[in-house]
Amino acid sequence: MKPLSDKSSSFTDSVIRRMTRVSIQYDAVNLSQGFPDFDPPKEITDRLAEVAATGPHQYALTWGAKNFRDALAKKYKHFSGMDIDPESEIVVTCGSTEAMMASMMSVCNPGDKVVIFSPFYENYGADTILSGAQPVYVPLNPPEFTFDADVLEAAIKQEGVKALILCNPSNPCGKVFTRDELVIIAELAKKYDIYVITDEVYEHILYKPNKHTYISTLPGMRERTIICNSLSKTYSITGWRLGYVIASPVIVDRVKKVHDFLTVGAAAPLMEAAVTGLNFGDEYYEELQRRYTHMKEVFTGGLKDIGLNFSDPQGAYYVMVDISEFGYDDDVVFCEELARKVGVGAVPGSSFFKEDVHNYIRFHFAKQDETLYKALDRLSDIRTKMKR
Ligand SMILES: Cc1ncc(COP(=O)(O)O)c(C=O)c1O
Repeated sequence: MKPLSDKSSSFTDSVIRRMTRVSIQYDAVNLSQGFPDFDPPKEITDRLAEVAATGPHQYALTWGAKNFRDALAKKYKHFSGMDIDPESEIVVTCGSTEAMMASMMSVCNPGDKVVIFSPFYENYGADTILSGAQPVYVPLNPPEFTFDADVLEAAIKQEGVKALILCNPSNPCGKVFTRDELVIIAELAKKYDIYVITDEVYEHILYKPNKHTYISTLPGMRERTIICNSLSKTYSITGWRLGYVIASPVIVDRVKKVHDFLTVGAAAPLMEAAVTGLNFGDEYYEELQRRYTHMKEVFTGGLKDIGLNFSDPQGAYYVMVDISEFGYDDDVVFCEELARKVGVGAVPGSSFFKEDVHNYIRFHFAKQDETLYKALDRLSDIRTKMKR
């Protein structure tokens, strides 16, 4: 048989999904893969039940149902102040995952370079392989996850750099980029004429006093920013696969075509039901923040009581725990033993870092109180069970 494609052969098995399998094997509380164990808002699921009877059930317009795009443009105006034309500046996609892939394929030629902050969300590696781009990594230095502006400039000015991927708020490290940091990135993007492709899926999951700044609203950034985002996290509907790209008409025109051939379109009945969520008032987002702040306080408060060393997230729903004290040089082995001996699933931090970093593991805390307390209860023995 002839060999299968070089591109597909360079993919590794997702470490996150592997840790989920390990968690199931040892009946561990699975705090590895990031999805909530609670229901979406009832108004949205009630609307879905109505839509089951009334439709739509056939293809929507390839770039998304008009009422969905209209509601999205209105929501963006409210939160960012941007005027977005729903006809020429939005493409609705199958999750932010497709939004990122379609954007990368619209921007990059094989051999172009893309700057990625490390630690990074694992899909960006696959996105670069599929679009033929070469990643150039810039470290976010723990424990504060700050970057060095000179190192960033040296990366961006390399020949062939076409774009930078900005995950804000960041998975896995929970960093919320400050306005000053975004200004540095924006100035470099303009100076070296590169695109900024954002991943803003956690835009509404923030812990006070942190605030989300849309880099596209900074001077001169609107035309060079490609926003990738989704409804997965904001409305706890990760399985609905609803995302979108927002960019200038020139870029969106390309993304529409790539998207059409990748997936034709997002699911019509789910778009219809999700419009209910896009029309929610401010109180929904305030309550979301309160709820996540509570989960963060329960989980990080418990970690503090146990005496574990972790970096407090500013946004998103992950926490990186420093495992240096346990004497393991392999964080993958640590996570497997943690699932087996302690009964809690985590992701080895090395799967997010390009650098040789093996002293972090990542937990996620988008869970009901009882799940978090069960995990914390098991973690209270971690020193006796895991110290080498
Ligand atoms: C940073 C980041 N981007 C994108 C995604 C995937 O989003 P979607 O469900 O919209 O494809 C995730 C999911 O965990 C994520 O953490």
